[in-house]
Amino acid sequence: MGKRAKITVVGAGNVGATAAHWAATRRLGDVVLVDIVEGIPQGKALDLLQSGPVDGFDVSVVGSNDYAATANSDIVVVTAGLPRKPGMSRDDLLKKNADIVGDVIRKVTAQSPNCFLIMVTNPLDAMCYLAKKLSGFPKNRVFGMAGILDSTRFRTFIAQAAGVSVQDVDALVLGGHGDTMVPLPRFSTIAGLPISLFLPKETIDKLVQRTRDGGAEIVNLLKAGSAYYAPSRSVIEMVEAILFDQKRILPCTVYLDGEYGAKDVYVGVPVKLGAGGVEKIIEIALIDEEKKAFEKSVNAVRELITKL
Ligand code: APR
Repeated sequence: MGKRAKITVVGAGNVGATAAHWAATRRLGDVVLVDIVEGIPQGKALDLLQSGPVDGFDVSVVGSNDYAATANSDIVVVTAGLPRKPGMSRDDLLKKNADIVGDVIRKVTAQSPNCFLIMVTNPLDAMCYLAKKLSGFPKNRVFGMAGILDSTRFRTFIAQAAGVSVQDVDALVLGGHGDTMVPLPRFSTIAGLPISLFLPKETIDKLVQRTRDGGAEIVNLLKAGSAYYAPSRSVIEMVEAILFDQKRILPCTVYLDGEYGAKDVYVGVPVKLGAGGVEKIIEIALIDEEKKAFEKSVNAVRELITKL
């Protein structure tokens, strides 16, 4: 008899609570929601749990301010931290969120020394680097969610512009999760066919830029927070790949140790995600202009890491 997986989500805000919701309704395992604010994780967990009889899930959902409740988690998703306000870049969050993430990583790894750490807090690439340093975990167990989100945004825009089903659209976005991210139209397809068959270059260029600004577009609309439905659903894609050993090929923010010509840095590239976490980094041959854009993005991430 197998035991149920235990999934901890730190930060019971917009992204964290919505991730807990997806995890429970997809019956992925028992969910623990943790936050620094008293009552919020408990209240949201209880509310979510009470949707179980209607939705038909019977995993447990608990909220706590105490990390003891998270002991022996299989996966810990870190969403604790401040979101952006209009006019802010993700990088503007660096100092405050580094303090929060530092506190969270120390507490969570003491309780779950064997867990997979999935980072969501921004600026994402730098927060992954910090999490790896502080946890001392191997690189296959510390990684971040950004590429799936950036790609699903690009896929949405491509499907809309081409007037086709999102189900037939695949897209790839590499690089850091910031203004320098690198959407790759050359590796983006509709039913396996190049998107250039469906869309003129000017349109594709516009969609690339809209993807880069995808987070800011939502921040400007919401005014009091940043996106959370697509981010949290994207995290759950990673949680599922690990728990069910799916060997999915997904763009994730991972530690590079020479791959793509980059060393000792976290950045988004396609990887194989399974029961071993990041099981393999997939290296694709980039053409000159893609390579340049990727290097620019790596340098932007490095600058932030240096500031840490
Ligand atoms: N420990 C635990 N939780 C904390 C801590 C801490 N030290 N500090 C803050 N939090 C909690 C807050 O109390 C809040 O409930 O983190 C939660 C963040 O939730 P929101 O403010 O709703 O932010 P959200 O939209 O969920 O974004 C969280 O993910 O996508 C990124 O850029 C985003 O960095 C941001 C993070």
